[in-house]
Amino acid sequence: MADQNSSNTRPDLDESINVADAHASLKEEGNAVAREKIIRENGLEAIPIWLIILCGVFVLIGGSVLGKGGNFLAYKELTKSGYLRAEPPGGGEVILAPIPILEAYRKEGAKLYSKCAGCHQSNGQGGNGIPPLAGSEWVTGNTQQLSQIIIHGVKGPISVAGVAYNGNMPAMGDGLGKKELAALMTFIRTEWGNQSSLVTVEMAEEALKIAQKSGPGQKDVAELKKDHDKMLPGKLVPDDTLLDPETFEIFASETK
Ligand code: HEC
Repeated sequence: MADQNSSNTRPDLDESINVADAHASLKEEGNAVAREKIIRENGLEAIPIWLIILCGVFVLIGGSVLGKGGNFLAYKELTKSGYLRAEPPGGGEVILAPIPILEAYRKEGAKLYSKCAGCHQSNGQGGNGIPPLAGSEWVTGNTQQLSQIIIHGVKGPISVAGVAYNGNMPAMGDGLGKKELAALMTFIRTEWGNQSSLVTVEMAEEALKIAQKSGPGQKDVAELKKDHDKMLPGKLVPDDTLLDPETFEIFASETK
């Protein structure tokens, strides 16, 4: 037995099939190889490693651009420093089209009037013991009195368009900045047939200062007449003066 094993260099000698030959033919065109070829022809071959790396590089570049503080699409960020940005027509950094001051104030004021409409009604006629704003000398008259009525409220006997009232209006100054106050006053002075001058932001700023100085608490007619029977300081501008509808700034080129 030992002899037979040592002289036997071909283990498959006794087999009817030569394993080496059989494998050789398989190597040439085995089923698996044929299948692989078909897949390649269909374009479904595995993604090459270099393509995966290239994609990774693109993702990194893209990410770093987008991640630039979220300013990827910001015009300013993309503009090199030292280069001057072209000014839009009309000058300044303003993008929105300018509109006449009266139109801008009235539009904003109409929205703010919702604070008052619950009592004075949307038609400005008042009712149920509440005086009208339409045709009221307190609205169409001097602006300082009007501003203080709105900011501080008013109580006690008051005559409006020849009718006597004796009620109580709460202070409405909360949330009214100079811009809002100017818009609201301008609106009620030019709505429902009222035809008075507009109130500028500059004037409204004065009104807020005066209100702060005069201290809290509702006003009565005596105090209004004594301290506030005058126009607010500030330059009046024509109704068609152009201004930025967003900031309410007057266009420098339009003021003379
Ligand atoms: C809670 C109800 C109420 C609200 C809200 C109110 N008012 Fe009045 N308002 C009155 C009453 C009542 C009087 C009369 C007070 C008096 O008799 O002394 C009055 C008086 C006035 C007057 C002077 C008299 C006149 O009719 O011209 C003006 C101006 C005025 N209000 C403007 C406004 C404006 C502007 C707002 C909104 C910011 C406003 N009011 C919100 C109740 C209200």
